[in-house]
Amino acid sequence: CGIVGILGNTEVAPLLVDALKRLEYRGYDSAGVATLHDGQLDRRRAAGKLRNLELILNDNPLPGTIGIGHTRWATHGIPNETNAHPHRAGNIAAVHNGIIENFRELRHSLAENGHTFESETDSETIVHLIKREMDKGFKPVQAVAVVLKMLKGAFSLAIIFGGEDNLMIGARRGSPLAVGHGEGEMFLGSDAFALAPFTDKVTYLDDGDWAVLSRSTIQIFNENDELVERQQTVAMASAQVTSKGNYKHFMEKEMHEQPEVIQHTLSNYIDFASGKVRLKSELPFSFKDLRRITMSACGTAYIAGLVAKYWFERYARIPVDIDVASEFRYREAPMEEGGLSLFISQSGETADTLASLRYCRENGQHIASIVNVQESTIARESDAIFPTIAGPEIGVASTKAFTCQLSVLLSLVILAARERGKITVEEEAELVQAVSELPKFIRQALKLSEPITHIARRLSKVDNILYLGRGTSFPLALEGALKLKEISYIHAEAYAAGELKHGPIALIDESMPVVVIAPFDGSYEKTVSNMQEVAARDGQIILITDEEGAKHNSLEDCDVVVMPKVPEILSPIVYALPIQLLAYHTADFMGTDVDQPRNLAKSVTVE
Ligand code: G6P
Repeated sequence: CGIVGILGNTEVAPLLVDALKRLEYRGYDSAGVATLHDGQLDRRRAAGKLRNLELILNDNPLPGTIGIGHTRWATHGIPNETNAHPHRAGNIAAVHNGIIENFRELRHSLAENGHTFESETDSETIVHLIKREMDKGFKPVQAVAVVLKMLKGAFSLAIIFGGEDNLMIGARRGSPLAVGHGEGEMFLGSDAFALAPFTDKVTYLDDGDWAVLSRSTIQIFNENDELVERQQTVAMASAQVTSKGNYKHFMEKEMHEQPEVIQHTLSNYIDFASGKVRLKSELPFSFKDLRRITMSACGTAYIAGLVAKYWFERYARIPVDIDVASEFRYREAPMEEGGLSLFISQSGETADTLASLRYCRENGQHIASIVNVQESTIARESDAIFPTIAGPEIGVASTKAFTCQLSVLLSLVILAARERGKITVEEEAELVQAVSELPKFIRQALKLSEPITHIARRLSKVDNILYLGRGTSFPLALEGALKLKEISYIHAEAYAAGELKHGPIALIDESMPVVVIAPFDGSYEKTVSNMQEVAARDGQIILITDEEGAKHNSLEDCDVVVMPKVPEILSPIVYALPIQLLAYHTADFMGTDVDQPRNLAKSVTVE
């Protein structure tokens, strides 16, 4: 679910709806807004997409300069109007994201006190609890403080009170919540994207924090109700989540966001000034003591893990097992106590990945996850969370989440290498220096969109494509084939370049394009000899390499995409760009539904 709150100076209902549009990716089962008008609470709610709420508001507008809004993905109770937020009890209205685990007990005790409920939701319990405290004579702020301590589970909340035109309370435990600072206005939102049209001055609440807002003041309390200071930051350039801007598709927009979101993600892991990897909080395990890392994930996230296996083993000398989660969960893998299990998931909700996580927990592993949605189930069930700060990814084919996952993994690899004494301080500083240039390289790679378009035009007419790569370019070949399949529906397969002669070479003839990913590194020569085997059988080569690699390429009849020269450790991240662009432009020529390809879903919460 997504929540928003505005203490404004103009009518807020349309602004709330605007903000909700940017949160719709978090669920669109039902939506609602509540405002205060002349001190009186009023609300409008609708089942289904936000559009339905807009229609209701057109017919029956909601005045008022303070309000809260919600877009729902149903957890408790079917997505009808009654179960839609905001929920209300007497003079109190609240929107809630997350799950109140002990709501049945709480509801029972409220019912014993004579409270009656109109919905089946856990969320409605919250407003009733606050009302019960206020009925005892507590003021809103005290009542909320008492109630927050009763709630178990993960949540974020925004609450308003009848008769209190200059008061909004927000709370965060598990689910994220940001405060936005305006000129004589104050905002709350599930993420900074929701608030982007209003302000880029944002304070992220820490877990357990709650905030008392007026139009000009903000007081933040921690979970022990102590007044605390939280840093105000400038949110990244206000990406318009639900608008494609000048881009034709979300996927295109998301590819172009990569320099920025990678930078943002890296800044959470790396202190560039000191040339060190530095995590924001301490880990519940130490890489130094680890004997093995077990990773599982699905789809593109799995491919990010495959790249990381090469990195962890080579640079940090830790053995890594990696599986697609749907296999791992049933494989009954024996696990040595105290190992690290690392899960990678953009949504944090993928059913197979979650089941693998639970298996690993039962088998005495440390549980860590790389997620893009920090309040997701996988995040909640992890001992350590490594967030990607990619922002919402709307296109079903993952692009920016993938490169952000790789950026986080790379940071962890450097950290692990240091903790295990495999690199010196100088070597760490060198790697960090290399990583600091990633956004620049990604920007350069994006400039190849134009030449790649010409190749894509031709690819859009073929039925089969083969992708080849060695080392970390092998998982990238897998990602290239996956991306192309997902959005263009062209059959594509990827092979480790060295495997070519063990089977797939039988497929090669003049009708088979072969995409070869080969930066000029230690395996370049070997990959090129595989490429020559293809060329000798009339296969059409598309070589993705750097200037040096292009210089060493002796094949005449072949397309070459010339990438910037990048440090070897970065190439799987930078080379993700041309393969994304190739898939995108091919699909675009074919006129497929790029953002919502047939038969796929962004978040797969069923087995
Ligand atoms: C779906 C999506 C893929 C994604 C995979 C894993 O299949 O279409 O793009 O890579 O799920 O999703 P996750 O949210 O766990 O990363």
